[in-house]
Amino acid sequence: METPAPLIDPFARAIDYLRVSVTDRCDFRCVYCMSENMTFLPKKELLTLEELDRMCSTFIRLGVKKLRITGGEPLVRKGIMTFFESMTRHLDSGALRELTLTTNGSQLARFADQLYAAGVRRVNISLDTLDEKKFADITRWGRLPQVLNGIDAAQKAGLRVKINAVALKGFNEEELFTIQDWCASRDMDLTWIEVMPMGDLGNEDRLDQYWSLKDLRARLAERYTLTDLAERSGGPARYVKVEETGQKIGFITPLTHNFCESCNRVRLTCTGELYMCLGQEDMADLRAPLRASPDNAVLEEAIRAAIAQKPKGHDFDYSRQTVDGQMTRHMSHTGG
Ligand code: GTP
Ligand code: 5AD
Ligand code: SF4
Repeated sequence: METPAPLIDPFARAIDYLRVSVTDRCDFRCVYCMSENMTFLPKKELLTLEELDRMCSTFIRLGVKKLRITGGEPLVRKGIMTFFESMTRHLDSGALRELTLTTNGSQLARFADQLYAAGVRRVNISLDTLDEKKFADITRWGRLPQVLNGIDAAQKAGLRVKINAVALKGFNEEELFTIQDWCASRDMDLTWIEVMPMGDLGNEDRLDQYWSLKDLRARLAERYTLTDLAERSGGPARYVKVEETGQKIGFITPLTHNFCESCNRVRLTCTGELYMCLGQEDMADLRAPLRASPDNAVLEEAIRAAIAQKPKGHDFDYSRQTVDGQMTRHMSHTGG
């Protein structure tokens, strides 16, 4: 079969990273991600596991090299291991470079070995605090020991772990060094994320929560020598090396430093909507073209048409002491 042309957007960015939210459900209710009483999609709206396979395989045929499974919490989707196992063939053929997931860690004790067997080598685990009480507060429903067990299981299975921590003013500020030291002691990578205005939280709350990574970095620099690294993991994080410990720390800065110019990704929701940007409303329905014909030509055409609509970037901005660029969509809809 001839190799199709790669996916290039109107700003000459090559799209080779697909994030797939396989469910909108989650066993936690993190305050910056969901509201307490979420209405979830009826199961019949979801793409089936076979349809998810067809979608992802088509993107891979069009040049996607990195596939990240997200949610909601991806590991609460029934039968999801079957899907991971079906993606192994693309790793084996060399078409796919990386198969990975972002998870809250709650189900890893159960699934870590199977994920490794399917070819996953790295997982990103969301964890904002090491304090049990604060963890229960921020996740509303989560329990820290369960997640720590999950992390143990992931490392035991041979998975490389990266911790994602959302920087939250007055919440985990005083844990800056504790979290960093804990990651170093367990040989885990760490990435800090600026909180984005997604969902229906009041604007004032979001401004109150916001802790800029510029400030966080300055605090780190009071204790350590930080050197910027050129290395990239294929996502939006920029990394620094802590000279004193050799540790690598990532920063995801949608607010203080826009990284959209090097964006390489799009997001598929569990109902088959393709969001071309996390911070814009534009999306294309891929479920109808997928179901229109068993031949993937119609779907490929729809994917190309969607990529041709990819916006330049998000408009998130708190700098005027107001929240600009807010999305009413919850983060759990597109999986971050
Ligand atoms: P690596 O492969 O480890 O680089 O992962 P990644 O950073 O691509 O994935 P991860 O799921 O860990 O992403 C962390 C968070 O970064 C996401 O949940 C989002 O909050 C944020 N993020 C990722 N991509 C974008 C993007 O294109 N725009 C914005 N504004 N935020 C993004
Ligand atoms: N802003 C920044 N990051 C968020 N996440 C969820 N909601 C937000 C938000 N509003 C993060 C989670 C997880 C990833 C999927 O996205 O902590 O690491
Ligand atoms: Fe669930 Fe992750 Fe959203 Fe928390 S941030 S509610 S763990 S999907």
